[in-house]
Amino acid sequence: MSNSSLIQIIKNQITSSSDQQITFADYMNTVLYHPEYGYYTSKSIKIGNQGDFFTSSSLGADFGELLAIQFLEMWEILDKSSEFTLIEMGAGTGVLASDILNYIKNNYYDFYQTLNYLIIETSSELIKQQQEQLAEHHSKISWKSWEDIENNSIVGCFFSNELVDAFPVHQVIVDTKELKEIYVTLIDSENFQEKIDSLSTPELEKYFKLIDIDLLNKDYPNGYRTEVNLKALSWLETISQKLKQGYLLTIDYGYPARKYYNPQRYQGTLKCYYQHRHHDNPYINIGQQDITAHVDFTALEKHGKLCGLEKLGFTQQGLFLMALGLGDRLSSLSSGQYNLQTILSRRDALHQLLDPTGLGGFGVLVQTIGLTEQQTERTAKRISARSLTGLKQQ
Ligand SMILES: C[S@@+](CC[C@H](N)C(=O)[O-])C[C@H]1O[C@@H](n2cnc3c(N)ncnc32)[C@H](O)[C@@H]1O
Repeated sequence: MSNSSLIQIIKNQITSSSDQQITFADYMNTVLYHPEYGYYTSKSIKIGNQGDFFTSSSLGADFGELLAIQFLEMWEILDKSSEFTLIEMGAGTGVLASDILNYIKNNYYDFYQTLNYLIIETSSELIKQQQEQLAEHHSKISWKSWEDIENNSIVGCFFSNELVDAFPVHQVIVDTKELKEIYVTLIDSENFQEKIDSLSTPELEKYFKLIDIDLLNKDYPNGYRTEVNLKALSWLETISQKLKQGYLLTIDYGYPARKYYNPQRYQGTLKCYYQHRHHDNPYINIGQQDITAHVDFTALEKHGKLCGLEKLGFTQQGLFLMALGLGDRLSSLSSGQYNLQTILSRRDALHQLLDPTGLGGFGVLVQTIGLTEQQTERTAKRISARSLTGLKQQ
């Protein structure tokens, strides 16, 4: 089932390293992002109802349409800027972009005309799918790498849905009153095994200081194991350099730090997804399965602030979408204009987007940079308490 070329590449990484071991983050980076054989870069990735996992945008156009309403409001707050750019990071099959752009084109044509839509995507296979999916909007949309985007050049909104959970994470463990790290090494010429050793970088200790969590206090049992997403911090730094004025909208599964690093969550949040089933063994189906970890929203908030990104609000997806009109969409299903089949399937999809134990419980974080005083005031006037519509609690 696993990809033998990829396994050989990881073995070479291990045997060529000075300690015959690589961090779990390096392992995860290779199995997900190796340019040829990684899960996200090869043909293995399958998103949607028949795939390894599905996302909010696999449930129909409502999710993208409601986000479009939020983007319209951002554009209005930014004085209907003629340079407004939406930058989607990690665009999957392109369905979300297509739902957003179709809705804006059909309902707010003046916004559509000014809008510039960029996609930043690592998977060349998915870029192909996105280009097919988005052919109709080819004049609006382009695919860029971070290097293509000049510093301090973007007015608009960077956004992602289920991107940050896919970044490679370090795994740390409390080992007889010391914080240590999980490494991957070889048990014999065939098989991988984990090894505990000292931290690979002081950034890991700095991370826990940033979020004010002490894994060495008495509440955490020996063997307590969890993840640290350092890549999310460098990602924030890059966005803060590129974004001159506007917003960063991050939607993902995760928790604030106190909940994430709760002493009872002693095995962390790492999960593998393969053909719609999830399990916790990252050493099988190598290159064929997704591996993810929940997002620590406190780290995004606190590190964002250090980079100049101010938190505008944090809420749950269900509440966010309700404030943008999901409730009206649900009630309109009883208006008599839809057939029974449509009513049932759409009602089910909308309920899934709201379900607090599922997609509705995802975190939504909005951060901002470079707003003028007037734009900040306008936000406050239009919507109470300096928040965007989607951030209003119902
Ligand atoms: C879980 S999928 C989510 C797809 C889509 N946002 C959706 O809602 O269906 C993660 C996406 O992020 C992309 N990706 C992963 N790491 C990335 C990175 N460092 N930069 C840009 N895209 C990345 C993947 O190739 C994939 O398109």
